[in-house]
Amino acid sequence: MKAVRIHAFGGPEVLQVEENVARPVPAADEILVKVYASGVNPADWVVREGGNDVLRPYLTLPMILGWDAAGIVEEVGSAVTEFQKGDAVYGEPSFPSAGSYAEYCAAKANQFAHKPKSISFNEAAGVPLAGLTAWTALFEDGQLQAGQRVLIQGAAGGVGSLAVQFAKAKGAYVIGTASASNLEYLRQLGADEALDYRNQQMTELAQSVDMVLEASPLRDNAERLRTVAVLKEGGIFVSVNLDFPFNEAVQAALAAKHATGKLSNNQPRQEWLTEMAQLIDAGQVQVVVSRVYPLEQVADAHRESETRHVRGKLILEIRKEAEQA
Ligand SMILES: NC(=O)c1ccc[n+]([C@@H]2O[C@H](COP(=O)([O-])OP(=O)(O)OC[C@H]3O[C@@H](n4cnc5c(N)ncnc54)[C@H](OP(=O)(O)O)[C@@H]3O)[C@@H](O)[C@H]2O)c1
Repeated sequence: MKAVRIHAFGGPEVLQVEENVARPVPAADEILVKVYASGVNPADWVVREGGNDVLRPYLTLPMILGWDAAGIVEEVGSAVTEFQKGDAVYGEPSFPSAGSYAEYCAAKANQFAHKPKSISFNEAAGVPLAGLTAWTALFEDGQLQAGQRVLIQGAAGGVGSLAVQFAKAKGAYVIGTASASNLEYLRQLGADEALDYRNQQMTELAQSVDMVLEASPLRDNAERLRTVAVLKEGGIFVSVNLDFPFNEAVQAALAAKHATGKLSNNQPRQEWLTEMAQLIDAGQVQVVVSRVYPLEQVADAHRESETRHVRGKLILEIRKEAEQA
């Protein structure tokens, strides 16, 4: 099969489009997915470069990148009961081994769900990793409740765009941050307030939020310290930047207001993917794809992701939508 593999860690030039990579064989609890589209995530180029302190121990070469997939079930493992050959699915391939920058990927069945019916494969591939990250951070680690106020930093990105909409769908009051050119976009997603992180002072929100979700690619504890000031007494600060712990000053500021700080890792739960698909099919959540790249242009897709200013999602198209099973 065709796949993008890396044989060495490095810049975008290490991404190799190869024609004769062995097709994976699904284990008993896995499905083999005929991949139509794969999402591009910051983790892809972080891994390509050799990983960070959290990821490095798990990485082996050669490797197929890609941890978002939408496609059609080609084979089911002997223990899989919830899917049949021909089902349209979306989900998160197992990390780090069996990536989705490939014509086929084998993945744990319980990390996949039926694809939302109302959107394309390209759109569906933008949901799993970013959506599960947003869902885990908001509702599992953040315990966000209807009526609460949440500040979402990085609200225009892949994780942030879905987080804004999930939080609104669950009845929260949402304040998002982005650069000036994305403020109207945040309002279109449903944000109640949109703040320009370059020009507006967070302190305007003093003491007003129950939860902060740091979904921005920024890793800066001084910025976190300023943000703690907007948390209510007893609030919660969730960051998805697992590789960047809260420093002592941030921990002390959180403790002083009896607030909690958590680093959040996405949990690839099938029931959450199913609930997200329902929200999408009900028209409550839109998937914003800013650009689709053919698989052959994977290096350009990485270069764009590395700007840290993508709106919504970047997608790699592996097969044309019209090419149905
Ligand atoms: N723990 C996990 O399981 C997990 C999973 C996925 C991702 N992540 C992490 O989550 C973060 C976001 O991922 P993503 O996929 O959403 O990335 P992304 O799509 O590349 O995010 C790009 C967005 O970040 C915004 N941004 C850049 N600098 C900002 C700043 N200083 N303040 C606020 N917003 C800023 C940009 O908005 P403007 O263009 O308007 O500046 C852009 O829309 C990354 O750090 C990633 O490593 C963690």
